[in-house]
Amino acid sequence: MLNALFIFGTRPEAIKLAPVIRHMQSRPAQFRVRVAVTAQHRQMLDQALGAFHITPDYDLNLMAAGQTLSSSASRMLAGLESVCVSTVPNAVRHDVVFVQGDTSSTLFGALAAFYARIPVAHVEAGLRTRDLAEPFPEEMHRVLTARLASIHFASTEGARGNLMAEGVEASRIFVTGNSGIDAVLDVSARLASGELPTNEWNFPAKGKHLIVVTAHRRESFGAGFESICRALRTLALRDDAEIVYPVHRNPNVQDPVQQHLAGVPNIHLLDPLDYVPFVDLMRRATVLLTDSGGIQEEGPSLGKPVVVMRAKTERPEAIEAGTVRLAGTDEAVIVREVARLLDDEELRHSMSRAHNPYGDGHASEKIADATLSYFR
Ligand code: UD1
Ligand code: UDP
Repeated sequence: MLNALFIFGTRPEAIKLAPVIRHMQSRPAQFRVRVAVTAQHRQMLDQALGAFHITPDYDLNLMAAGQTLSSSASRMLAGLESVCVSTVPNAVRHDVVFVQGDTSSTLFGALAAFYARIPVAHVEAGLRTRDLAEPFPEEMHRVLTARLASIHFASTEGARGNLMAEGVEASRIFVTGNSGIDAVLDVSARLASGELPTNEWNFPAKGKHLIVVTAHRRESFGAGFESICRALRTLALRDDAEIVYPVHRNPNVQDPVQQHLAGVPNIHLLDPLDYVPFVDLMRRATVLLTDSGGIQEEGPSLGKPVVVMRAKTERPEAIEAGTVRLAGTDEAVIVREVARLLDDEELRHSMSRAHNPYGDGHASEKIADATLSYFR
């Protein structure tokens, strides 16, 4: 039996690791699962843990208002040492530590495990923009996590190729699809069948398009967010669409968004939604307008066109397939790209094909099987 420790701290890591955790928990003869959260995010992490009924074994509870990259990194590393290396007699020995993605919790979870001489398994490995400034600091986090990891779970062949180009041995890379797709396909199917309840929202008005917005990238703070807000105000002038924007809790996002968009007709600002209602919202959207990594993968799986408010992406597959377009944060380009989708039915239909370059909904079992085969 393998003792697997999962370390994570933010909303997207929780959503994408939850299916892997739940799957391994369903195989108790093969896996003993433990969960450690840094709680780099507090409320948004708890929302995701609640959606998947996961109770952490260790909770560092380290989110602080105004945390900087260095301050949260140092608190994580100090806190995770005692999780990885327990001094208590007969304490649990962890055979493998799983981390996911590219956040600070990812990198410092991997480093804490490496210092404790525990092999690291990296889920969603091998994504690259090849620009260390974008996304910042996530591109560097991914590169460094790859150096620390012993096993790499890549979502696509492209990600595998990126890792091999950096010298990672082929025998350590497993192409599994993204476990986030397991979550979104499962929840979407259960919403469609009525097994999960849908929400009663008073938007959009009958016959109007729904534009669902999320944005939170560090490199857009300041001028980028001002520009995004101006674009949303312009789009809100249309009488055939309504905008729904669950606003990330980061004050660098809350402040400009509340200042420029609160009370604007046709714009609904919400608190971050629980995962199931958010999938429900995406299913109703005409367009997803976002800078999120996860939503760039979820949109194509749900057959929703995605306009990405970033200049570069580490997820080129859906752009090549034509269901995702890059707009950057320029006001005019965002307005143009969204308006084209609302006005051009043919373009909308061509971008609305459901397809899954990022996985078939079975990544979790592939990750579990590959882990066992690696340690056998
Ligand atoms: C982090 C990740 C980013 C990821 C994003 C997902 C890093 C460096 N950045 O960015 O890669 O895409 O999470 O959302 O790891 N806050 C709350 N409550 C919450 C969450 C955040 O109040 O539940 C506020 C706090 O004031 C916190 C601030 O947001 O200090 C920033 O959080 P932080 O995790 O440092 O950065 P994010 O921008 O959320
Ligand atoms: N999400 C959510 N509630 C919201 C907005 C997003 O549950 O109000 C989900 C979304 O479906 C995706 C993840 O959160 O799975 C994306 O997280 P985020 O944008 O914070 O991070 P990123 O994907 O950019 O790393």
